[in-house]
Amino acid sequence: MAENKQSSLNLSGINAAIIMDGNGRWAKRNAINVTSGHEKGVDVVRKIVESAAKAHLESLSLYAFSTENWSRPKKEILGIKKLIISAIDSQVPELINQKVRLNFFGDYSSFGNDVVDAIEQAESVTASQESRLKLNIALGYGGRADIIEAAKLISTDVKLGKLPVEDISNETFFKHLKAPINELDLLIRTGGDHRISNFLLYHLAYTEIQFTDTLWPDFTEEEFIKCLEAFSNTERRFGKRTL
Ligand code: FPP
Repeated sequence: MAENKQSSLNLSGINAAIIMDGNGRWAKRNAINVTSGHEKGVDVVRKIVESAAKAHLESLSLYAFSTENWSRPKKEILGIKKLIISAIDSQVPELINQKVRLNFFGDYSSFGNDVVDAIEQAESVTASQESRLKLNIALGYGGRADIIEAAKLISTDVKLGKLPVEDISNETFFKHLKAPINELDLLIRTGGDHRISNFLLYHLAYTEIQFTDTLWPDFTEEEFIKCLEAFSNTERRFGKRTL
């Protein structure tokens, strides 16, 4: 049923993103440790990526770890670090098969050289292929830090005389931001909270936002397809009058 619906969805050119929230509460509810909750979260990532490729999305950006998440307990961060490495090891062959191009963005150097090396390797082996879907993973990412860094780079270009102040535009910002997308069309947040949590702040100007109470480990392909269908039935006016 979901499979039939899926095949009729064609969201080419659409950039979607997900704030995957609720792993901790799901773990608590199921009386297991938080790392096992994140592990279940990675299983869901695999299914949703497959679904996103079938729906012909241009890109899917996932908020895996924010700048604020560094203040979590060391044990949890170590669990996430191990999960990132094992997810890359086990999933990259499948991503190549599905023609998915992987790209990590944010400051993830504090996870250590083993993570940085695994990421660089995964990006390079998925880079050359004609991609069906761009999968962007935000790791050590914060929207404010992204904007501040872009402002610094732009100011340097102005100071060096490479960029006249009056030429600073939206495109200038997109070019200097770390997030590898321009306009964000759809944002989904799981886990019941109605907030943005410092995700793609600059990109959210005209984004359609959907919130669901479902905890990320319980989020299914069926619910994802329903979100995509609701998005494709939305009239986007971008501030213009259409009546
Ligand atoms: C949000 O749930 C989840 C995270 C902060 C971590 C998610 C990270 C992964 C699933 C690993 C991803 C790795 C790859 C390579 C995709 P939460 O712990 O904030 O949940 P809570 O709000 O219920 O506590």
